[in-house]
Amino acid sequence: MTNDIEHILYTEEQIYKRVKELACEINSYYSGKPIIAVFVLKGSAFFASDLIRWLNMDVTMEFMSVSSYGIESVSSGKLTIKRDIDSDVTDKNVLLIEDIIDTGITLSTLKNLFVQRGANDIKVVTMLSKPSRRIVKFEADFTGFEVPDEFVVGYGLDYADKYRNLPYIASLKRHIDRKSVV
Ligand code: IMP
Ligand code: MG
Repeated sequence: MTNDIEHILYTEEQIYKRVKELACEINSYYSGKPIIAVFVLKGSAFFASDLIRWLNMDVTMEFMSVSSYGIESVSSGKLTIKRDIDSDVTDKNVLLIEDIIDTGITLSTLKNLFVQRGANDIKVVTMLSKPSRRIVKFEADFTGFEVPDEFVVGYGLDYADKYRNLPYIASLKRHIDRKSVV
């Protein structure tokens, strides 16, 4: 499987360091207020579990899995919820934890959903962002790394459900057909 790797973008050590820095930023933002940490699965599984270990407030873990319908989902709020969280978020502080923001469609739709559900405060942390690919204007409140327009895998990120278990973040070789993804 590592034959498919073009080059490593972030090593285990770089990821570890950046995750701790993000946790510090998040700790100072909340200054001790409790949060519900929503893992947007499957991609954010490693990032979210590494990140929340460094948070110093009370953290409730919730898991969610969604897929969006593309651009129409932004205005219509149409989102397929494959797995929903268990708890009521009314008046709670919600931290959505995502692997990568690409077009911005998924996260802007998901954030709207939590607004409708009556959360008090909704923040988004993403490990990666590809600003050059945005279709809708959307920025996370906390971003690990900004990446160029390359298809990346590892540390939770997949191509056709492969490569999630790589400990680093890498770009995939171009010969691999990625049209079916996203
Ligand atoms: P968005 O709605 O276009 O922002 O989609 C974000 C989702 O697309 C992410 O949660 C990923 O599942 C997927 N995605 C976008 N770019 C990549 C990539 O480079 N590698 C792996 N998954 C990606
Ligand atoms: Mg994802």
